Amino acid sequence: MSRPAITGATVVAGVAGAPVRHSLSPILHNAWLAGAGIDGVYVAFAPPADRFAAFVEGLRGGAVRGLNVTLPFKEEALALADEASDLARAAGAANVLVFETDGRIRADNTDGFGLLQALAVQAPGFSPAAAPAVVLGAGGAARGAVAALLAAGAPEVRVVNRTRARAEAIAAALGLKVRAFGWEERDAAFGGAGALINATSLGLAGGQPLDLAIDALPPAAVVMDMVYKPLRTDLLGRAAASGRPAVDGLEMLIRQAMPSFEAFFGRPPPAEVDARALALAALRGAA
Ligand code: ATR
Repeated sequence: MSRPAITGATVVAGVAGAPVRHSLSPILHNAWLAGAGIDGVYVAFAPPADRFAAFVEGLRGGAVRGLNVTLPFKEEALALADEASDLARAAGAANVLVFETDGRIRADNTDGFGLLQALAVQAPGFSPAAAPAVVLGAGGAARGAVAALLAAGAPEVRVVNRTRARAEAIAAALGLKVRAFGWEERDAAFGGAGALINATSLGLAGGQPLDLAIDALPPAAVVMDMVYKPLRTDLLGRAAASGRPAVDGLEMLIRQAMPSFEAFFGRPPPAEVDARALALAALRGAA
């Protein structure tokens, strides 16, 4: 792909994280910019962990139009913003910061939107409002998933976590429809569920496996994994082998990027760019 010329009017946006080198966001956003013919560029920033606040402060006024924020900065990003959307507040984290020209910083969270869109695209028969959902994990990703499912009308969200106290903290923050379960109580949590979502990093290539029997889940329950390296995780393999719909984390990544792009560049990504094919090619190249 030829790189469009940088001009004096090029709008800059980017992603900040540590590490950020392997982020797929620059590939997606720059392909969309080129496809839409927008004079813009999207780059990766890796501020030192203890300098993130200073980095963000320096962008007030709009030297950079906006930032996606990834690990480990999402909670801090929310705290640094002057305004935050309801979803960002509920998630306790921001993955989007927009720098207004008057110096204000607006925070949003599109991860939950990405999660719901991934389910809608890859499991079109699934309705979040129809049955309880189970979320594995109780870190930032899990809290965002719980907030999104509640916003989509889930009657109950069951948080299953090794450290039960962290699941209880999410329940305390997000209300009576959230129930906490310890890891050993997971089969009870699976009963009658409409969806199981892995929001831990277990199953990530090179890390610890997620060795999880899913027999206690109803046969039609949707199984989603936020891990996308490998794309078909062991959990998604088990789902497919048992005939359950499987939803991958790459779709969530792509779908959270779409409203981010619109927040930065003022229009949705061009539909003719095949973002998934680009992301898959980048993942293959990195393997
Ligand atoms: P993030 O903010 O990205 O979600 P995190 O806060 O590090 O990341 O959370 C990782 C999740 O994976 C946690 O829910 C963690 O469980 P604990 O709260 O008990 O630490 C879960 N996790 C990590 N390793 C695990 C393991 N070996 N077995 C079960 N759960 C594990």
